[in-house]
Amino acid sequence: MPGSFWPLGIDCTPMFEMQPIGYVRSPYGETAQIPKGCGAKHEAEGVLDILPEFEEGLTDIEGFSHLFVIWVFHKVEGYALLGRPPTDDREHGVFATRSPYRPSPIGLTVVQLIRREGPRLYVHGVDMLEGTPILDIKPYLSSVPAEQLRRGWLAEAEARKESGN
Ligand SMILES: C[S@@+](CC[C@H](N)C(=O)[O-])C[C@H]1O[C@@H](n2cnc3c(N)ncnc32)[C@H](O)[C@@H]1O
Repeated sequence: MPGSFWPLGIDCTPMFEMQPIGYVRSPYGETAQIPKGCGAKHEAEGVLDILPEFEEGLTDIEGFSHLFVIWVFHKVEGYALLGRPPTDDREHGVFATRSPYRPSPIGLTVVQLIRREGPRLYVHGVDMLEGTPILDIKPYLSSVPAEQLRRGWLAEAEARKESGN
């Protein structure tokens, strides 16, 4: 029940205001240009153009090979709790997919950092549109051993595709 855990009898859904720390410079002007579906590879290079007032926050970022980029699906309106992703012909819950149509339209992309030039991070692996607002950047660190990862319906969809069913 939204709000019921909040102190002082406040009973409302909290909203969070966020500001962009920068914008994505991407070769993709339209969603149709971005590779989708099984086996899609994100090889495009782009730039994370950080606003001057946040540049100091990039100090020491050069040492990391990969970054998490947290961003906004700013061209999307509305959401769907169930959807059929391009990787499958079956429906799945939005929180079990990477659908752009989410109640909180937040995108998450892992990119490879190629180089930094002042407030600009040149990266490999963008899947965002030109002008996408960036909310945050964090170094990519994964402590989950590969053998413990499960890929749920996606692994099943890939297996079905391979076997032709
Ligand atoms: C399937 S989502 C995955 C994005 C991210 N890697 C994630 O997992 O959150 C990628 C798709 O989002 C769409 N997209 C990219 N940037 C967008 C933006 N700024 N606004 C709306 N849709 C966008 C494009 O159709 C792209 O193919």
